[in-house]
Amino acid sequence: MDLTKPILVTGASGRTGRRVVAALAGRGGPVRAFIRRAEARDELKRGGASEIALGDLTDDASLRRALDGVGQILHICPPMHPREDAIARTLIDFCDEMNVGRFVLYSVLHPLLSDVPHHARKLEAERHLVGSGLPYTILQPSRYMQHLVPIWKSVLSTGVHDMPFSTTAQFSIVDLSDLAETCARVMMEPGHEGATYQLAGPEALSQNDMARILTQVLGKPIRAEAKPLDRFRSEAQAAGMPAERIETMCLMNAHYDAHGLLGNPNVLRWLLGREPNRFESFVRRELL
Ligand SMILES: NC(=O)c1ccc[n+]([C@@H]2O[C@H](COP(=O)([O-])OP(=O)(O)OC[C@H]3O[C@@H](n4cnc5c(N)ncnc54)[C@H](OP(=O)(O)O)[C@@H]3O)[C@@H](O)[C@H]2O)c1
Repeated sequence: MDLTKPILVTGASGRTGRRVVAALAGRGGPVRAFIRRAEARDELKRGGASEIALGDLTDDASLRRALDGVGQILHICPPMHPREDAIARTLIDFCDEMNVGRFVLYSVLHPLLSDVPHHARKLEAERHLVGSGLPYTILQPSRYMQHLVPIWKSVLSTGVHDMPFSTTAQFSIVDLSDLAETCARVMMEPGHEGATYQLAGPEALSQNDMARILTQVLGKPIRAEAKPLDRFRSEAQAAGMPAERIETMCLMNAHYDAHGLLGNPNVLRWLLGREPNRFESFVRRELL
C-alpha cells in the first residue's frame, strides 16, 4: 500500500464520512474527500481532508477525475441509494482500469438479507468486488448507536424511546467512533487485503434494554415503545423523505421487528486492540 498517494473517501460529508476523514487525518492519512456540494468543502478541509474532489457518484466523468492518482479508495455509498449496486460496479471497474491499489467497501452487517433491499444491493457490490481481481477489504458494520441522536430531544421530553420495531428485538449496536477508528486502521495498516470484517458492537440490546440503561444514566424513568410502521411512514412523508427510501426503511424495520440485527464483536475488538465502546459510554460521551 502506497500511503504517499491520496485515499479517496466517498460520502465524505456524511455522518460516517466526516468521522472517517477525521480519523484518517489523525493518523496522517492523505485524504481526498469526494463531495457533491461545494459548500461542504471548507468543513471537510477543517475536518482533515487535504484534497477535495467535487462530483456526483452517478456521474462517470467526475468519478474518473476523483480517482486520478489515488492509492486506495474507501467507498461509503449514500444510505439506501436505489442505484447503490450500479454505483459500486462502476467505481470498482474504474479502480481496476486506473490501477488503484485497494478498494475498501463500506458494506453492512449481513448483506445476505434478501428481504432488505439495501442489504441485497450491498451484497451485489461485494460480489462484484470479490470477483474483480482488485485488492480489497470489506467492512460490515452493524446498526449505529448514533441512531439515538435524532430522537434524543424527544426521549428527554417524553420519557419514551420509540423506534419502529419491537421493544424486545435485539441489536449488536456499534459506536460510530469505533467504526471510524477501525476504518483508519484498516486503510493505513498493512495486512487487511482480501478480508471481510463483521463489525458488531459488544452488547446485544433491545429497545427495552436501552431504555433501562437510559433510566440509570439519566436518573429518571425512560420506557420503550414500538412506533407503529404507519406512524413512521406518515412522519417520514411529512418530513419530505423520498417514497422509495420510505419503502426501503419500512422493509428494513419489518425485518428488525421480526429478527433484530445481531453479530459478534470479536473482530471489532481485535481490530481496535481494545474493548469496543458500550452503549452507556456512547450516551455519556455524545449526549450528556
Ligand atoms: N446507519 C447505520 O446504522 C449503518 C450501519 C451500517 C452501514 N451503514 C452504511 O453507512 C453508509 C453511510 O451512511 P451515513 O448515515 O453516513 O450517510 P449520510 O450521513 O446520509 O451521508 C451520505 C453522504 O453521501 C453523499 N451523497 C448522496 N448522494 C450523493 C451523490 N449522488 N453523489 C455524491 N455524494 C452523494 C451525501 O452528500 P450531501 O452532504 O451532499 O448530501 C453525504 O455526504 C451507508 O451506505 C449505510 O448503508 C449505516
